[in-house]
Amino acid sequence: MHPMLTVAVKAARRGAAVINRAALDIESLTITRKRHADYVTEVDRAAEAAVIETLQRSYPDHAILAEESGKQLGKGGHEEYTWIIDPLDGTTNFIHGFPQYAVSIALRHRELITQAVVYDPTSNELFTASRGSGAYLNDRRIRVSKRSRMADALIGTGFPFRDMAGLEEYMAMFRAVVPAVAGIRRAGAAALDLAYVAAGRLDGFWELGLQPWDMAAGALLIQEAGGIVGDLQGEQTYMDSGRVIGGNPKVFSQLLQLLGPHVAK
Ligand code: IPD
Ligand code: CA
Ligand code: CA
Repeated sequence: MHPMLTVAVKAARRGAAVINRAALDIESLTITRKRHADYVTEVDRAAEAAVIETLQRSYPDHAILAEESGKQLGKGGHEEYTWIIDPLDGTTNFIHGFPQYAVSIALRHRELITQAVVYDPTSNELFTASRGSGAYLNDRRIRVSKRSRMADALIGTGFPFRDMAGLEEYMAMFRAVVPAVAGIRRAGAAALDLAYVAAGRLDGFWELGLQPWDMAAGALLIQEAGGIVGDLQGEQTYMDSGRVIGGNPKVFSQLLQLLGPHVAK
């Protein structure tokens, strides 16, 4: 395993330990609402602190981009390497005891994501990838599915839930996809949805309105598992636009065709 990935895995496990401890008593959590349907708990913050502390101990010069604490340059003002962190992806699920949430950590070197970890503490499933070295679930190599017919495909998605401005655009896309596929799932943790595409459990995925920390690790997992990730034009701007499609190569292009006509002008 690449040494930087080893440190990322250690950081993800530290964050997950915080989450697991808190999961034993979710009733006593202090929950704050950032805005409509956008919650943060002390667990998000404590898990993030544990992740950052672990990464910075090994790599003090690396910059950080984390959901709860924002941007931070590395020691000496460096930003050649940036760790992109979602300490708890799927907070709403976590608050409800719905066991679908994860720690997501990615390393960006200049413009490229080079290392990725998505760790599901409820199932002890560790998804990892290093650029050029394939994607893994625990110790097993994973690949995207081979399914090519949309009629057989299981597609993941995320519904708009905070900002309703995008609901009409999303619903038009949803209406186009529902009759074309075997099923749609909205599990509630985008990083894990992308990891499931990498593992072939989902054939494709799309969501609008994501943040870099929701996608960075999952996108590299898909690419290293032989899949494709892009925005709604099939281009590589999804980290900026937050609009992402991922899938095995055949499903990716068909999903792109289904969604394209419904992109808001
Ligand atoms: C959210 C989850 C959810 C997705 C949202 C994300 P959070 O992350 O990934 O599935 O639909 O867009 O913001 O807030 O639980 O870290
Ligand atoms: Ca998230
Ligand atoms: Ca989060």
